[in-house]
Amino acid sequence: MAVVPIRIAPDPVLRQRSKRVRIVDTSIHTLIKDMIETMHDALGVGLAAPQIGIPLRVIVIAVPEEEEIALINPEIVRRRGERRVDEGCLSVPGYMGQLERSESVTVKGRDRNGKEIRIKAVEMLAQALEHEIDHINGVLYLDRLDSMDDLRKVEPKETEEPEDAGKEL
Ligand code: CO
Repeated sequence: MAVVPIRIAPDPVLRQRSKRVRIVDTSIHTLIKDMIETMHDALGVGLAAPQIGIPLRVIVIAVPEEEEIALINPEIVRRRGERRVDEGCLSVPGYMGQLERSESVTVKGRDRNGKEIRIKAVEMLAQALEHEIDHINGVLYLDRLDSMDDLRKVEPKETEEPEDAGKEL
């Protein structure tokens, strides 16, 4: 396994629409392992493959108190409600923003064994799923801010933050 450098905006790979995974083989398993290791090393709670320079539709999420998730070709099939959240991105270091995310989402995709799965999520897991699925469509949370006034500078993160702090994804 390996920690891989995270691509930083405005790297063009972050603006690409990532390709669907056709076959879940060992190269995809290695990619998922590298993504999980890179996410933890960066103290993030989510990561999408384009963030390590691979334009494939693969995401990983590790929201506190929830099981670690790896999803291949994820798609949002249902969104409900709206809530205002604090959000950061490992590819946009040093900033946090406030934006609207769904209260709950239903996502379908494949797990790391290629098996079809469906996840119903609320709160931070729903937020993480929306954020990472945005990444594989070339969208950054910056695009979803009502105004640049909703963006603020923050100190670089060196240790785990309180539970209620905005997370980097
Ligand atoms: Co991000």
